[in-house]
Amino acid sequence: MHSPYEFIAHKQSGKEHPPKEIQTFIERFINHRIPDYQMTAWLMAVYFQGMTFSETEALTSAFINSGRQLTHNGLKLPIGDKHSTGGVGDKITLILAPILAACGIAVPTITGRGLGFTGGTLDKLESLPGMRVNLSLEEIEATTAEFGLAFGAQTNEIVPADQRIYALRDVTATVRSLPLITSSILSKKVAEGIQAIVFDVKCGHGAFMSSYNEAHELAKWLVHVGQLFGLNTSALITKMDTPLGRTVGNWLELEESVQILAGNQDLRDILDLTFALGATLMKQLQFVESRAEAYTRMKDVIRNGLALEKLEAVMMHQSGDLNSFKLLTRGKGDEVHRARASRTVEATISGYLNNFWARDFGFAAILLGAGRQRSDDIINPAAGIRFHCDVEDQINAGDPLFTLYADTNSQLDDAEERLKKSVEIVEEKPERVNLIIDEVS
Ligand code: URA
Repeated sequence: MHSPYEFIAHKQSGKEHPPKEIQTFIERFINHRIPDYQMTAWLMAVYFQGMTFSETEALTSAFINSGRQLTHNGLKLPIGDKHSTGGVGDKITLILAPILAACGIAVPTITGRGLGFTGGTLDKLESLPGMRVNLSLEEIEATTAEFGLAFGAQTNEIVPADQRIYALRDVTATVRSLPLITSSILSKKVAEGIQAIVFDVKCGHGAFMSSYNEAHELAKWLVHVGQLFGLNTSALITKMDTPLGRTVGNWLELEESVQILAGNQDLRDILDLTFALGATLMKQLQFVESRAEAYTRMKDVIRNGLALEKLEAVMMHQSGDLNSFKLLTRGKGDEVHRARASRTVEATISGYLNNFWARDFGFAAILLGAGRQRSDDIINPAAGIRFHCDVEDQINAGDPLFTLYADTNSQLDDAEERLKKSVEIVEEKPERVNLIIDEVS
């Protein structure tokens, strides 16, 4: 093996690493024989010089080998998952995972916290009092075996190398690198012990990848490298210009998800995407003959209440509070977490709503206390935004557009200021936007 100095210089000059050297470099880093400054120098070299698919495969393997993988011995169900590259108001995992489990697909999901202006499923789950996501590997396996569904987090047992390296990338501007993103995401998914995965690669104003071309490239990397690990992979490229659904914020989004599963809310954007991702995964797992059959099965488990029961059972098993969950199902979430301050913002002109610009609303949610400005910030579960209208709706000046929820009036002031130019009202009725732009498989 080259010395760390030579290894970094090799990548700096644009040369390809042999896979074994990547494995050794990561092993030494994990064993504290390579310091953070050499790791970040290498990450910066990768950021500028890139890596081949074969190097990315080696890095993904090294990440996986830094921890243990879930095994699902004896589980008779097909096993799959979905992963979103992150958006604003994106609560689809909370809806789709119990739907899939209720249909008979096991989903041992390892999910993450909010990153930048995008929300995270773990934060949403943890807004239920008592809910525990730091499950051991054995607990995730046992919960999956019992319910066909588990909500876990990355821990010291699961891909610890990625956890440490991601923290370095986050503060050294080396997150936006295709091979690094690919190995980070895929290592966690391969470690779940699944057979198939569908990626929701978002593009647009409220996405990590703002252009279609960037999103398409990332989708290609995820699909291709995933296949090298024997995973059946595909990706939908979806639009993320407007927040998904009618809420942004952890408790508000959990309540909205529960309401959708209860069949009380028929939000077109969320359901379209949920069913499209679910049908794609069911086809990949050869669980259904056709997409139409997949749609029927998913709609059935909403209609007969099985999907909501599944979410409730798993959240109770993971120590969530039953009374609080029941209040969510009755649309009375504010009896559990109520924001101390709120303000409704009204339209100043008439026309048709063309957009609530997603990135701005993501940042405003952070200012309200729904996300973190620093990694040790404590989230206020009640903080967030509730929208009162949808894109295409006709609006009159004075109509309520959205309500902000926070702890203090000064947080409301900051968020309102941030959103001054974030609502687009136009004269002509805008055309219906299809959220699903493309599929890569
Ligand atoms: N999400 C991850 O888990 N890793 C990345 O590198 C980027 C997004």
